[in-house]
Amino acid sequence: MESLKYLNKYLLKYKWTYLLGVLFIILSNLFAILMAPIVRMAVDTVTDSLIVFRHFNGFNLNDEIINMFTGYAVFFALLVLISAIIKGIFMFFMRQTMIVGSRYIEYDLKNEIFDHYQKLSLSFYNKNFTGDLMNRISEDVSRVRMYLGPAIMYTVNLVFLFMMVIGVMIAINPEITLYVLLPLPVLSVSIYYVSDIINHRSDRIQQKLSEMTSFVQEAFSGIRVVKSFAIETKVIENFEKESDDYKEKSMHLVHINALFFPLMLLLVGSSVLITVWVGGREVVYGNFTVGNIAEYIIYVNMLTWPVASLGWVTSLVQRAAASQRRINEFLSLKPEIHTESAEKVIFNDRITFRNVSFRFPDKNDFVLKNINFEILKGKKVGIVGLTGSGKSTIAQLLLRMYDVADGEILLDGVNIKSLDLVKYRSLFGYVPQDVFLFSDSIAGNIDFGLDQSEKDGAGRPEQIREAARVADVLVDIDSFDKQFDTILGERGITLSGGQKQRVAIARAVIKNPDILLLDDSLSAVDTGTEGTIKQNLIDAMNNNTSIFISHRVSVIEESDTIFVLDHGEIVEQGSSAELLEKEGIFAQLRAKQQTNGLTNGL
Ligand SMILES: Nc1ncnc2c1ncn2[C@@H]1O[C@H](COP(=O)(O)OP(=O)(O)O)[C@@H](O)[C@H]1O
Ligand SMILES: [Mg+2]
Repeated sequence: MESLKYLNKYLLKYKWTYLLGVLFIILSNLFAILMAPIVRMAVDTVTDSLIVFRHFNGFNLNDEIINMFTGYAVFFALLVLISAIIKGIFMFFMRQTMIVGSRYIEYDLKNEIFDHYQKLSLSFYNKNFTGDLMNRISEDVSRVRMYLGPAIMYTVNLVFLFMMVIGVMIAINPEITLYVLLPLPVLSVSIYYVSDIINHRSDRIQQKLSEMTSFVQEAFSGIRVVKSFAIETKVIENFEKESDDYKEKSMHLVHINALFFPLMLLLVGSSVLITVWVGGREVVYGNFTVGNIAEYIIYVNMLTWPVASLGWVTSLVQRAAASQRRINEFLSLKPEIHTESAEKVIFNDRITFRNVSFRFPDKNDFVLKNINFEILKGKKVGIVGLTGSGKSTIAQLLLRMYDVADGEILLDGVNIKSLDLVKYRSLFGYVPQDVFLFSDSIAGNIDFGLDQSEKDGAGRPEQIREAARVADVLVDIDSFDKQFDTILGERGITLSGGQKQRVAIARAVIKNPDILLLDDSLSAVDTGTEGTIKQNLIDAMNNNTSIFISHRVSVIEESDTIFVLDHGEIVEQGSSAELLEKEGIFAQLRAKQQTNGLTNGL
């Protein structure tokens, strides 16, 4: 329960909505209760009149009396109808306030969680499953909403209805009231247990359903592999197994669900029975009227659903509390990497890695060991090494995706940890090794990194075209039917690996960043295109700093300075000519790749 306190700030924010809801609850109950005395009066009038009617038996007043009866009947029916309508209207407003309020809070909470997710560091994403993160924001929030909406609404309703109905009942006859209400606590408790079981079984079904969804999703996205290996039958069999399991679990739920209403009706029925029985006896003694019995039956029916819902509401609140606890766990996490500062971040001179060592969080082995190097402003720097030597890790550290374990990274002599994180990262135009493009148009993917103000500018289409030209992807894009408006992703077209890389390069270039950082970004383009892009980048980036990371020597050969990385250490550095003279690792790598290239060429 404790965890739900977190939501009080939202309840406070929407307090007027909720208070108005409470008012409507009271009003709707008032008119609901009003119906019972009207029915009592109707029944009593009929019984009384019947007695009178019998006295006049045989006189010729019959027609007039029957007319009078009909008049009464219509009058009472109208009264009942009017109160029912007014009650209905207030119930509508009650839902319009409370349930709508809960939707507002749901919206706010989802946004709060998503905002928080965005701020958390990469290590958080390494530790948690995507499915879990999604569940917090969808599944868990909707459970919390059940507390904010129905649970609160029904509880408030229950409290007022109880006070009002039981007050009226006791005023009429306390003893009968006691007997009549006896089955209700039993109803409440048994509904609690039944809905608890229902909830558990639904959870299992939900779980199974998401397993099935992932299964089907994989089967669809991997359909090419499935077909080429001709294993459709096996996939179908697996699906049948999953599906069968799902059916079993659903059957379990159906069994218990089938119990719910009969149980409720049984207990309500027993209340009605007691009313008629005890009430009937009292009528004989003259303490109760036939109308009272009808009135009580209405009261009992009015109490039934709220009492039944008490058990349901309790389990709703418990589930909401559990969900909110999970949400709170995430919300209380502080981003591991975060600096805010009003000061501008300007790159004037150099970036320095000083004695930098690094290992990934929760891992033992150092991926980078005692790295020292400098990147001078305006220079072209190459980092080369075999796969797994730690090149991408250097890129991640440069972007401060992780903080170094030992040593420091300095921007113009200032530790980057003390610089405003967002401003610092904005210095870079980064093309990651595994390119990710959004399900959006090509234009949207390229100007993705620009500020809104820059996007609204009149020169935007030309800017995008120019960036695409520099990345040597313009010809490809122009060949598509919709050109820059071509939609990528699931419902759009699929680009080749090399096209993706080039779009990602355009995305980095359009920012005209201080530092261009390419991580193996030319690995999927042919040597000709590689040369064109390199030349374009040199022309376009003129005075900016560029860092090319690659396992291919040809990509970084013309850099001003080359750092050769091997097993997390910088083993050689210098210009290409200097390194070749050394006849060390760099020279070997180059020789090997050249012969490979030659044989490939043949
Ligand atoms: N997120 C991570 N968590 C743990 N280990 C990682 C992670 N990313 C990379 N590594 C490890 O760090 C080493 C260097 O990887 P990486 O920097 O990607 O090399 P390169 O880019 O040179 O191929 C590899 O052994 C790799 O397995
Ligand atoms: Mg890499």
